[in-house]
Amino acid sequence: MNKKYYITTPIYYPSAEFHIGHCYTTIIADAIARYKRLAGYDVFFQTGTDEHGLKIETKAKEKGVTPKEYVDEIIANAKDLWQQLNISYDYFIRTTDEHHMTRVQEIFKKLYDKGDIYKGEYKGLYCVPCESFWTESQLVDGKCPDCGRDVNLVAEEAYFFRLSKYQKQLEDFYEQNPDFIAPVSRKNEMLNNFIRPGLEDLCVSRTSFKWGIPVTFDEKHVIYVWIDALTNYITSLGYPDITPEFEKYWPADLHLVGKEIVRFHTIIWPALLMALDLPLPKKVFGHGWLIIDGGKISKSLGNYKDPREYINAYGVDAVRYFALREVPFGSDGNFSESSLITRTNADLCNILGNLVSRTIQMGIKYFDGNVKNPKVYADIDEDLKNSVNTLKDKVDQKIEELKINEALEEIFDVLRKCNKYIDDTTPWVLAKDEENKTRLETVLYNLLEAIRVCATILQAFIPETADKIFKGLKIDNNNFDNIYESVFEYQLGSEKPANLFERIKEE
Ligand code: MSP
Repeated sequence: MNKKYYITTPIYYPSAEFHIGHCYTTIIADAIARYKRLAGYDVFFQTGTDEHGLKIETKAKEKGVTPKEYVDEIIANAKDLWQQLNISYDYFIRTTDEHHMTRVQEIFKKLYDKGDIYKGEYKGLYCVPCESFWTESQLVDGKCPDCGRDVNLVAEEAYFFRLSKYQKQLEDFYEQNPDFIAPVSRKNEMLNNFIRPGLEDLCVSRTSFKWGIPVTFDEKHVIYVWIDALTNYITSLGYPDITPEFEKYWPADLHLVGKEIVRFHTIIWPALLMALDLPLPKKVFGHGWLIIDGGKISKSLGNYKDPREYINAYGVDAVRYFALREVPFGSDGNFSESSLITRTNADLCNILGNLVSRTIQMGIKYFDGNVKNPKVYADIDEDLKNSVNTLKDKVDQKIEELKINEALEEIFDVLRKCNKYIDDTTPWVLAKDEENKTRLETVLYNLLEAIRVCATILQAFIPETADKIFKGLKIDNNNFDNIYESVFEYQLGSEKPANLFERIKEE
């Protein structure tokens, strides 16, 4: 039996069209999922949409359509976007899916029967656009700490989840599982700012709007946001039924989330799972935001383009590579079209594209496309081969640590070395003298092997480009099991392959 790996993105609010910030998390989750598949894991990669709540109800009303009609259109576009970005999700969950809704109702009832949900009255400061309640002390200058807008005082009958009951258990869990939250700065933030000051019970139902999952035993209430949203990670596997899928994939190996929802995933979600007597996810990683001109990319601020415009203009792998490589995973980073162009030209075009086309062209020109291993090595070859042979382990390590940008740096270091190897060995000079034929073949063979190994790893990150490289090398793509099984002879044919990336001119 293969080892399993269950990875999730947050389920996104389809309150407006998706932007590059949503692509960011999803591309990274996709790369990790693909990497694990190549490594032989049985992967379950889930994404989806979080469709209930006042905000969507209000937006739909403004547009004169039902909430379902409103979200259906956005979700159709989102699915098209994921397809264009080559997102290889195994399951797309919608919180309006019938089976999700009934399972959420069952979970709610289960918690109520257990006494972990009770009826009370909610008074709180509520931010409508963020759908978040805040305490007085969390406000910044009297405004919502996330979006800076006004909050309203709201009072209504509501059901509560006994979050406070799980305070000690959570602290103990954090203590015993130091790697549960990453990066570690986020863990300290959770402990010091939220858990240790004392957890308050959590309001989990609403009567003030209708667009939500009704509480079965008290129909004027709809289940409010977090129990509906967070449980998506288990309802998709059939829970509360203990299905074979649930047994196989739960607990999740990795929840990837943005930094502003770490709190929900590392406090509320574990407490809910504790209440349900279920095992906790192995890791929650809170990543930073892509920002534009110093501010968060925001649907409400409208400071973004449809990501499909970038895909159309520069290619899917330019967008994927930027998301994976530009920003140290965990930190905030700037996004602009010009940095996307710079990154594409510098790495994909100059380092990768150039190397592949130069090498294949030389193989065709000097050896009619047939290059085998003459097995006579010089020191400079050993050096390159050593970088290639140790690459896979280095990338494995970086992926394990979720240092995605550094994983790509390792690969591009090797590609850069290959370019330097060409400059140092000067194949075009070797080609002038028949006596150097064996040496020349060695050089080209080593380059082709290096490219093959890099492309095998790059499949996880920029799959379309990796496929083009395999086509150029006229070999089948392979997985990690036989990455270091050398090709006996490259038969490149006679046709020069098209460039992988054209240099983009900035207007
Ligand atoms: N629906 C909730 C999540 C529920 S998960 C059980 C939600 N949705 S969201 O659409 O507002 O945000 C979803 C994710 O997108 C968050 O992790 C958020 O950090 C991420 N991003 C939204 N804008 C972003 C950027 N500009 N940059 C990076 N990620 C961003 O919260």
